[in-house]
Amino acid sequence: MQLALAPMEGLVDDVLRDVLTAVGGIDWCVTEFIRVNDTLLPPAYFRKFAPEMAAGWRTRAGTPMRLQLLGSNPACLADNAALAASLGAPVIDLNFGCPAKTVNRSRGGAVLLNEPELLHAIVSAVRKALPADVPVTAKMRLGYESPDGALDCARALVDGGAAQLVVHARTKMDGYKPPAHWHWVARVAEAVSVPVYANGEIWSVDDWRRCRAVCGVDDFMLGRGLISQPDLALQIAAARAGHDHAAMGWTEVLPLLRNFWTQCRAKLPPQYAPGRLKQWLALLTRNYPGATALFAQVRSERDCERLDALLGLPSLSPARSGDLLPRHTEPGFEPAAALA
Ligand SMILES: Cc1cc2nc3c(=O)[nH]c(=O)nc-3n(C[C@H](O)[C@H](O)[C@H](O)COP(=O)(O)O)c2cc1C
Repeated sequence: MQLALAPMEGLVDDVLRDVLTAVGGIDWCVTEFIRVNDTLLPPAYFRKFAPEMAAGWRTRAGTPMRLQLLGSNPACLADNAALAASLGAPVIDLNFGCPAKTVNRSRGGAVLLNEPELLHAIVSAVRKALPADVPVTAKMRLGYESPDGALDCARALVDGGAAQLVVHARTKMDGYKPPAHWHWVARVAEAVSVPVYANGEIWSVDDWRRCRAVCGVDDFMLGRGLISQPDLALQIAAARAGHDHAAMGWTEVLPLLRNFWTQCRAKLPPQYAPGRLKQWLALLTRNYPGATALFAQVRSERDCERLDALLGLPSLSPARSGDLLPRHTEPGFEPAAALA
């Protein structure tokens, strides 16, 4: 069984990847999507999304990283994939699931599920441009409006050369609304000959058990469930092995949040760091009453030093205010609904 940490634009950046993979149980993770239009991106752009490249494309805990590209121009995606591979990217993942209106309007993400021939052309072009030892993988939703074309899309991706598929078991029109239609993952897995990861609405070990029973697959990608319960992958791995795992409590999660905040403070300008803290803390309130109490204290606070104090930290040195603009300001993504 493999457990992957889902790519999440504006949320799962190098800082959160560092903190979460250090907890354990995650076999691999992915960058946020990198949009490719009609240009060859500069290497610094890849570095911005994947600072882990300096450490051999692994997080500090040693968890391997993949790089995710999003776009619709096969030749241009191929050129950028080849560049990323020359920078050491060990796996190139392609995004066919993003539901954001601006992304779909410019022919990227889930809207491409209406065009299986284009999916095939994209994956083939990227596959051809890469060295043989760098796999191409793909992450798809079930479709744009309906799941009726899911099997055709999956076959097009695999025939084009995708070595693995992650299936987020919803259509673009489903957005992030429960339920996830796990039975479609089973159908995709039957239709293709490569490993298929089930993704969507796994918030607990019980969800994972039900998902595994319905999908019949061995591999899973965890998104919001793992962000809101950082040891969910460890809990699932233990359950699969038949071991007991005492779930982390707030006293163990709070140090993770402090570490996250300290790194955000060092990375982001002070006006952006508080938003990142509240974003993660809001998800943690699903599982930890201590997080709910802390959230009530920090929700209207914007001053970094007062936030240091509320987190029980000595005042940290002022954040560096320069070179790294936060990517969650990038147009085209509407995370509010997904995180509600
Ligand atoms: C805030 C947010 C950002 C996301 N960004 C990406 C992304 O960059 N690339 C991608 O393939 N999927 C992205 N997704 C989709 C997730 O990877 C995942 O498929 C989805 O959240 C369903 O899994 P979950 O129910 O376990 O969260 C994003 C989802 C959210 C909520």
